[in-house]
Amino acid sequence: VEATSRTGKRVILAKPRGYCAGVDRAVQTVEEALKLYGAPIYVRKQIVHNKHVVRTLEAQGAIFVEENEEVPEGATVVFSAHGVAPEVYEQAKARSLKAIDATCPLVTKVHQEAKRFAAEDYDILLIGHEGHEEVIGTSGEAPEHIQLVDGPEGADRVTVRDPNKVVWLSQTTLSVDETMETVARLKKRLPMLQSPPSDDICYATSNRQHVVKEIAPDCDVVIVVGSTNSSNSVRLVEVALDAGARAGHLVDFAHEIDDAWLEGATTVGLTSGASVPEELVQDVLAHLAARGFADVEEVVTANERLTFSLPQELKRDIKAAA
Ligand code: F3S
Repeated sequence: VEATSRTGKRVILAKPRGYCAGVDRAVQTVEEALKLYGAPIYVRKQIVHNKHVVRTLEAQGAIFVEENEEVPEGATVVFSAHGVAPEVYEQAKARSLKAIDATCPLVTKVHQEAKRFAAEDYDILLIGHEGHEEVIGTSGEAPEHIQLVDGPEGADRVTVRDPNKVVWLSQTTLSVDETMETVARLKKRLPMLQSPPSDDICYATSNRQHVVKEIAPDCDVVIVVGSTNSSNSVRLVEVALDAGARAGHLVDFAHEIDDAWLEGATTVGLTSGASVPEELVQDVLAHLAARGFADVEEVVTANERLTFSLPQELKRDIKAAA
């Protein structure tokens, strides 16, 4: 990574960053639903964990609620990208809600794995963060078979019925390295522990971590654009620090950047979580340029082309209205 200027100050911009295919689809789902059915459209939980996205959709007529009970009977409700437990569909049915499911297909994949292993009577060790919506949704698929393992320390507390019939699954937005550490620790106690058929940590999470690891050793400070409740964004700060960045900060907006963070810094690394619109990164670039960090070099470690089509139930209605 080479870039110099007269001042020596530079920004290394990570790519891939920002929106993943699942977030893009979830945001589009709400926008299309607003166009098709008109406001208000209810959304259960934050559609994606980003303040700016939520505010923007609210301004367009989306109403964010915590639970189905807050949605008037018969109204339209969108379920967020993080997925829901089966009982949430049941509640929606009981209230005659028109439910549109914006769960990311890569989260749905983990739900399917949970269902399949539970049907085969496995003990399932779900590596993830307690209380995160994705973990609540996945656990709801088979609560009697799933136990949560919250990081490497949690591995020591696990108890299983049959050590020959255990599998681990994970939340999609974890730190790749920490998850592997947790698995290694679990395997020490449970040598027959099986792995999921394919990685549960999604392509977007691992790609964003990978490029941050590449740039971090060259950075005095790494700025990650993302919200504090965004798991994958928080992980990016941790990965940057682990990989050698001298400092790392999470900000929702450019104005949150403290000038003190830039004092004495020559190289600023910049990236954004999977739920972050690119305009917020561009705002940060402008903010940094105004402080002498005008040279920007983009470091690209992968090109992402994946896209997901809108939920079936919405596509059907769009087609019928055409
Ligand atoms: Fe899906 Fe991964 Fe994005 S699980 S919502 S592609 S961060």
